[in-house]
Amino acid sequence: MEPTETVYGLGANGLNAEAVAKIFAVKGRPADNPLILHIADQEQILPLTTGLNENARALMETFWPGPLTIVVPRSAIVPDIVTAGLDTVAVRMPSHPVAAALIRAAGCPIAAPSANVSGKPSATNARDVAEDMTGKIAGILDGGSCGIGVESTVVDTTSPVPTILRPGGITREMLEERLGAVEIDPALNGDPALRPKAPGMKYRHYAPQAPMYLYEGKEADLRLTQAVLRAQKQGLHVGVLCDDTVKERLEESLRRGHTAEILSWGQGKPDLAEHLYELLRDFDRVSPELIIGMGVDEKGLGLAVMNRLRKAAGYQILLAEEGGITVKSGSGFPEFLLVAEE
Ligand code: TXA
Ligand code: MG
Repeated sequence: MEPTETVYGLGANGLNAEAVAKIFAVKGRPADNPLILHIADQEQILPLTTGLNENARALMETFWPGPLTIVVPRSAIVPDIVTAGLDTVAVRMPSHPVAAALIRAAGCPIAAPSANVSGKPSATNARDVAEDMTGKIAGILDGGSCGIGVESTVVDTTSPVPTILRPGGITREMLEERLGAVEIDPALNGDPALRPKAPGMKYRHYAPQAPMYLYEGKEADLRLTQAVLRAQKQGLHVGVLCDDTVKERLEESLRRGHTAEILSWGQGKPDLAEHLYELLRDFDRVSPELIIGMGVDEKGLGLAVMNRLRKAAGYQILLAEEGGITVKSGSGFPEFLLVAEE
């Protein structure tokens, strides 16, 4: 178990099928979901692939070490269990010094998924790893809290136009600046009719135990505030996910002794990315009846955090724009979330 700059990983020798099988068993991970191989030096990718094209090389040169995973054609030394039988392999060179030291000490690529039980939010600190993994693993390398907080960006370099299969720490804008055109896997917007190209993206993920609802749009903060005040009047025990500004406003408006669990990520998208998983796990510790959250725009890191937030909310999303609230996706919303007060 090692910290990386994105999230903690559950590692094993990536060229040893038996060791890799233990990862799947401990996580309860479906066998059709391939793993990322982590390396510590650029040249370490060469034996793992039958060839790197210009896009792959440009990405390695620009963003490694860092929160970017590239999907490349696999070579025969990569065990089938790592790639779930695909003819490509995902490779990443983390920038966290502890991860790099571990990979160098191991002397082999390390296969590592995020160190959470499948379906739970990824772990971004040693305590959260211990919560999911104690008794199941050999040990935890505690490198403190992860700075980025959401997983690496996964880019398929084998498609004619490089394609983002999972948004993450390296933003779409950064990729476009280096490569020109970049596509985004259309399945990422949650349409259940489309099959994501990264098998892991199809699973319900990152979900807290309580049902979660999300306000998006320009007036998300206003509508969230109003909804929480109504919930308080109805005596509901609600969890609230918001930024510092909204938290302060809510605490002023709610009467003393209120029961809302208001968890703030701080201010801005980097804070949201850094704390999102921790906060989702914290909601499970305080067990609200439901969670109401607010979204951010999709620029920069916004694409990655909104991908995670929408999944956490099971795509139960309300759009709050000037003039009212409409259902963006989902159904069966509690009535009090839909009231647009003047
Ligand atoms: O930041 C990260 O990437 C963290 C840290 C530990 O490095 N790792 C991580 O691994 O998030 P995991 O296993 O939780 O997610 C890997 C994602 C999954 O969605 C998987 O389906 C996708 O990458 N993936 C792996 N190999 C692939 C391949 N050959 N083609 C397409 N998608 C692939
Ligand atoms: Mg994961």
